[in-house]
Amino acid sequence: MSSIFGSVPILAAVAIQLLLLPSVVLSLNITNEYLHHACNNTQGKYKPGSVFEKNLNIVLKNISAFNLRNGYALDSNMNRPYKNIPPDTAFVMLQCRGDSYGSKCHSCLARALSELRKKCPRNKAGTIWYDQCTLDISTYSAGDTRVLYENYFCMDNPKALSGDTKMFIEKKKVFTDKLLSEVSKHGKNGKGPLYATGETMIGTKTLFGMMQCTNELYENSCYVCLDWIINEHPFCGRGKQGVRYLGRSCNARFELYPFLRT
Ligand SMILES: *[C@@H]1O[C@H](CO)[C@@H](O)[C@H](O)[C@H]1NC(C)=O
Ligand SMILES: *[C@@H]1O[C@H](CO)[C@@H](O)[C@H](O)[C@H]1NC(C)=O
Ligand SMILES: *[C@@H]1O[C@H](CO)[C@@H](O)[C@H](O)[C@H]1NC(C)=O
Repeated sequence: MSSIFGSVPILAAVAIQLLLLPSVVLSLNITNEYLHHACNNTQGKYKPGSVFEKNLNIVLKNISAFNLRNGYALDSNMNRPYKNIPPDTAFVMLQCRGDSYGSKCHSCLARALSELRKKCPRNKAGTIWYDQCTLDISTYSAGDTRVLYENYFCMDNPKALSGDTKMFIEKKKVFTDKLLSEVSKHGKNGKGPLYATGETMIGTKTLFGMMQCTNELYENSCYVCLDWIINEHPFCGRGKQGVRYLGRSCNARFELYPFLRT
């Protein structure tokens, strides 16, 4: 019996790997890494079987039935408008990246939720960031048009940039400004696109960029949020091949390879 696996011809194993290779390579650029989390300890913890836990589960169950076609959900066990919020009300905000709608958004939600529960066990509030979604749980509504400045961070791609760094910084700045104006363009009902992607040549390299605001924001707030988060981290990503800026209300990413689904 022990020889069954040992006797698989090496050639067959190699052939299997070769068959698997193309799809592996294609999917490597589209990652959904865990990036960061922030537990909110001010809002406290809930007890098992508590009213808050029940409310939270109702909201999460509700969201799991949404189609998430536009990659966004803000839901609560209370009705809108979210005013005079009773204690133990649960709010959940999910914003998926612009290329991660529908089932992709659902699977990001599932991952983010189980990880948030591990990282912030029984916290009534917390935020978790993945490449493809941001999930926020709270007892109060963050879901107005205000930019939320509480949690933000920057991560760089550890790979060093080769070549003319000074030119790269200048061209990246021009590209950043172009994406900023696109993502915060005026649209109907005051809502701009809230998601913009693009690419630009810098010397022989192609720089890919993406910017997104949560669906809660209007075009000027979207601009304000992204402009703020990028300028908060002037040295992040400098001399590196890529950078991610992440906040509760907006995020942006730049890389020298395509990292979005096309
Ligand atoms: C935690 O929640 C409180 C509201 O109860 C809010 O004022 C505060 O900014 C939050 N802190 C963080 C770090 O998100
Ligand atoms: C569940 O979702 C539906 C459809 O969006 C909404 O009308 C309802 O208020 C939600 N209920 C709860 C408890 O979240
Ligand atoms: C990512 O995309 C770039 C540009 O198309 C390609 O050169 C590179 O091989 C890809 N990387 C992976 C890991 O697939």
